[in-house]
Amino acid sequence: MKTFYIETFGCQMNVHDSEKVIGTLISQGYLQVATPEEAELVFYNTCSIRDKAEQKVFSRLQQFKKEHGKGKTFAVLGCVAQQEGEKIFEKAPHVSLVCGSASYNRLPQMLVQLEAGNRRVTGLALDTEETFETPLTRRDNPHRAYITIIEGCDKSCAYCVVPFTRGPERSRTSASVLSEARQLAEMGYTEIQLLGQNVNSYRDPSSAGWDFATLLRNVGQVPGIRRVRFTTSHPRDFVKGIIEAIEDNPALCNHVHLPVQSGSSRVLASMQRLYTRDEYMRRIEWMKAARRPIAITTDIIVGFPGETEDDFEATLGLLEAVEYDSVFSFKYSRRPNTPALTLPGQVPEEEKGRRLTILQERQRAIQVRRNAAYVGAVEESLVEGFNKATGQWIGRTSQNKTLNFLRPGAAEDLLGRYVDVRVTRAGPNSLAGECVN
Ligand code: 5AD
Ligand code: SF4
Repeated sequence: MKTFYIETFGCQMNVHDSEKVIGTLISQGYLQVATPEEAELVFYNTCSIRDKAEQKVFSRLQQFKKEHGKGKTFAVLGCVAQQEGEKIFEKAPHVSLVCGSASYNRLPQMLVQLEAGNRRVTGLALDTEETFETPLTRRDNPHRAYITIIEGCDKSCAYCVVPFTRGPERSRTSASVLSEARQLAEMGYTEIQLLGQNVNSYRDPSSAGWDFATLLRNVGQVPGIRRVRFTTSHPRDFVKGIIEAIEDNPALCNHVHLPVQSGSSRVLASMQRLYTRDEYMRRIEWMKAARRPIAITTDIIVGFPGETEDDFEATLGLLEAVEYDSVFSFKYSRRPNTPALTLPGQVPEEEKGRRLTILQERQRAIQVRRNAAYVGAVEESLVEGFNKATGQWIGRTSQNKTLNFLRPGAAEDLLGRYVDVRVTRAGPNSLAGECVN
C-alpha cells in the first residue's frame, strides 16, 4: 500500500481542507502514517498569513533535502503553494507537487501524474467556480465537525494574502450545507462549526438565495445538533440579523469572533477595512444589548505601516471599551503582492514588539476581570478531553471558554457529553469548577 503523511499549518479552513484531502487520498488507496519518515508521499498544507508561518514549510522541506531520489515524494499544498507557485520547484527541487486550495478537486488526477513519474505537477488555477466538497472527508474530532460554507474572499484588506491564495468568493448551496449537517448529526456529531474566510458574505447560489443569518437559523434547527459556531466574520458584512438568529435559537453559541484589526479609524481606512471605529462599535452594542450573554473575541494587528502612538492608544482604548473575552494579536508582517507592502511609514520590528507586549498585558487584565464574573455560575460544557496530570476533565462552554473541572467519584467516560459545571475559579485564559450533575 502507498503511504502518506500530512502536516497542516494555519487556520481552521486549512485544517478542514486537510480532512478532505486525507479522505480523498484514502479513497485513492493511500494509507495515512504518523511520521514523514515512514511515508512515501509527504504533504505540507501550508499557511502564508505571516512571514513566520510561511517559513515553516521551507524549514520542514530543508530537513528532507537529502531524501531526494530516495523514494519519497514531497507535495506543498495550501496558501504558500498558491502564492509561490512554480518558484517552489526552484527553492526546493525535491518537491514534485504544488497545489493551491482551489484545485483540490483535481487531486486524484494529480496523484496519477505523480505515480506516472511526473516530477513537476501543479494545480494553481484560481478561477474555479466550485467549492471543494467530498463525501470522503476524514474528520479528526469525534464531536465537533467543520463545514465549509464559503471559500475565498472578495475583500482587499491591504495587509492580507488571502484574496491571492484562496481566490474569489464561492458560496455553497444551502441544500448541500444542510444535508451535510444532517448527515453529521446522524453520525453522532453534536457541534458544527461553519467555516469561511468571510461567512457573513455567504449568499446561497441556488434559487433559495439565503443570506448567512438564514443559513445559521436553519443549521441551528437540525435535530441532534446542540451547538453551532461560525468563523470568521467581517464587520462590514456583519448584520443585526445574525444576532437576532443567535437570540432566537439556543443551539447557536453565545460567541462571536469579530476581527477589528485596529481601534483607529485612520488606520482602518489605510487597511481598506471598509468600516470606521464607530461602525464597528455599533455592532458591539448590538451584541451587548442581546438577550443572551454573547462572548466577543477579535484579531488585532499592531504596527501596521503609518500606525502612530496615538493610533495605537486608540486600539488600547478599544480593548477597554469592548472588554473582549479573548484577543489574537499579531505584529504586522509584510506579505508579497499586498498593497501595504509598499506603504510608507513601516514600523520598526522592535517597536511592533513593544506595542504587542503592552496590548497583551492590557488584554490579560481585562480577561482576568471578565472571567472572574463567571465564578459561581453554572455553565453547560461539552467535555472535550481529560488531563491525566491533574485529574481534570476539559470542557468548553457555549462562550467558547475552556472550563476545567473535577467530577468526584465518577470514573465513567465523559468525553463528548454535555455536563453542567459550577465555576469556582477563574484565570485569564480559562475557568475551573466542579460538575454538578
Ligand atoms: N500581518 C499580521 N497579521 C496579519 N493577519 C492577516 N494578515 C496579516 C499580516 N500581514 C492577521 C489578521 C487576521 C488574522 C487571521 O491574521 O488579524 O484577522
Ligand atoms: Fe493561512 Fe490565511 Fe491561508 Fe488560512 S487562509 S491558511 S490563515 S494564509
